[in-house]
Amino acid sequence: MKAKIFDTTLRDGEQTPGISLTPDEKRLIARKLDELGVDVIEAGSAITSEGEREGIKKVTSEGLSAEICSFTRAVQVDIDAALECDVDSIHLVVPTSDLHLEYKLRKSREEVKTMAIESTQYAVDHGLIVELSAEDSTRSDMGYLKEVFQAGIDTGAKRICACDTVGMLTPERAYDFYSQLAELKAPLSVHCHNDFGLAVANSLSGLRAGASQAHVTVNGIGERAGNASLEELVVSLYSLYNVKTKVNLEMLYEVSKTVARITGMYLQPNKAIVGENAFAHESGIHADGVMKKAETYEPITPELVGHKRRFVMGKHVGSHIIKERIHEMGFQVDQEKFSQIFNRIKALGDMGKCVTDVDLQAIAEDVMGVM
Ligand code: KIV
Ligand code: ZN
Repeated sequence: MKAKIFDTTLRDGEQTPGISLTPDEKRLIARKLDELGVDVIEAGSAITSEGEREGIKKVTSEGLSAEICSFTRAVQVDIDAALECDVDSIHLVVPTSDLHLEYKLRKSREEVKTMAIESTQYAVDHGLIVELSAEDSTRSDMGYLKEVFQAGIDTGAKRICACDTVGMLTPERAYDFYSQLAELKAPLSVHCHNDFGLAVANSLSGLRAGASQAHVTVNGIGERAGNASLEELVVSLYSLYNVKTKVNLEMLYEVSKTVARITGMYLQPNKAIVGENAFAHESGIHADGVMKKAETYEPITPELVGHKRRFVMGKHVGSHIIKERIHEMGFQVDQEKFSQIFNRIKALGDMGKCVTDVDLQAIAEDVMGVM
């Protein structure tokens, strides 16, 4: 199994409440994504605004290796806007659930299928690669969904994408759902949202079921609870499924930090793979284990994703790590002095504090009478 990565940080990710990127910020992130090695960069939705088009144009004028894509609805004006930005492809989206058709579009199934066909035709005639995407596909009638996709493929769509728009799949249902769509004769993308915290698990199931590409965002940013996170997906593929992507894993931490800084969406410390605590150890048993053999409490090395291991000196710290640190700082302490230092760290821990290297140095100097 091989997987392609379609990054939508600059489109679905930018739809995160509170995020709005300038054209230069889009360009900067696109450069990083290209360096990272994603296959497709969805640079935005060209119809959105003048500034959005400026941003997409900046991305397309960079001469990047990745395919550059714009989101479009199934209307000519959106496709014209994408063409104006000189993108390689469009992510052409029609809703397919009766819920969306009735309450949002107020159109019949037949009308929406016709829109999909006509806009695919228009885009293909204008030289664009079309990825035909079904919004709210996981709450759609499977027969109708397949009909729309087949009609798109027959008209020239090169790929199809089924969106779990409000994150309703489970890994089991994702496998079953994407297996049925994988029977169609076109490369299939998974696009999963994280409303129940299952976006990455569902994407992995979809890929196992026969999809060949996953839509992801850096740090999992996106509408509501976000999208499947790029870093979690590609590292899971690599480490747990032995599946390669073109992503340079060693850049993941750096790219995550860049996106967090530019978007202002900072990560919770316990975020998998790229969070500040992803390779941090405090408890004595864990830290001791990691110092003897990292695999004891680390499933992957921090170096694999360009991160760093960190030992935290708090209430749960063990004597081994403190001895090591003090030694590295150049102190020679006997057992009695060491106990004094260790007890002071524990006392601070009991007060809810964590000790940094600078604090430890100060405590050690105080105990040793160096100050
Ligand atoms: O989640 C979704 O359904 C989407 C589509 C609009 C492409 O992002
Ligand atoms: Zn989405």
